[in-house]
Amino acid sequence: MRSCTSCALHKGRTNAVPGSGSAGTGILIIGEGPGFNEDQQGLPFVGRSGKLLDELLAAVPIAREDVFVTNVVKCRPPDNRDPLPEEVVACRPYLNRQMELLDPRVIVTLGRHSMLRFYPEGKISKDHGKILEWEGRILFPLYHPAAGLRNPAIKKILQEDVLRLPEALRESSRLSASALAPTSNSITEIHEITEPLKPEQPAQQTAEALESNVAEVAEAQLSEPLLKNEKQEEEQGDRQLGMF
Ligand code: URA
Repeated sequence: MRSCTSCALHKGRTNAVPGSGSAGTGILIIGEGPGFNEDQQGLPFVGRSGKLLDELLAAVPIAREDVFVTNVVKCRPPDNRDPLPEEVVACRPYLNRQMELLDPRVIVTLGRHSMLRFYPEGKISKDHGKILEWEGRILFPLYHPAAGLRNPAIKKILQEDVLRLPEALRESSRLSASALAPTSNSITEIHEITEPLKPEQPAQQTAEALESNVAEVAEAQLSEPLLKNEKQEEEQGDRQLGMF
């Protein structure tokens, strides 16, 4: 990966970011692509999104060293833009090989791009926090932490969703115990999200409504001036965009 020239992203990289962590717990966490800090250090999720990721895992509790963290693309997209389809395709063999080597029981995807790699028909606003089966493994899609940093409602959803990780692990044990042979590439939902809407929530505050709300807010924020230190961090390139 560090010497790869398969797509144009190699031209702008300081370091490729293959990933870090261990295969110990059988959890593989997949983000979108490196930001400024990750590109500088050659390590995934070391900026503000990484700090939130650590906090989310600590609530489970799981230590960062006990999971493997990587990205769909291993080199930083310029200006933190979304990875292009051809860049995702060029990087695919690396992620495939990582999955072969790590053999994860649970794949946690962060954000839309990462989820779509496994579940092209998925919709992050509908499928976040669901425990799904993908080719004999558990797929557990979550919002991207950068979206949580931008929007407190998303952060709250992330904090709630991540608490289902132990359940996802239990389901993965059940899957291997029953030795369910993967029959197709299709996605099966293992659990419906049964939580009813809280009574104080307005009726229109469904996931769909929240998503469009969030997307609008996020778009509005893009053209709004940021607070001084927020601006500095944004300029330093923590990935903020495109994770809805
Ligand atoms: N956002 C990502 O998607 N990946 C990183 O490594 C850092 C921020």
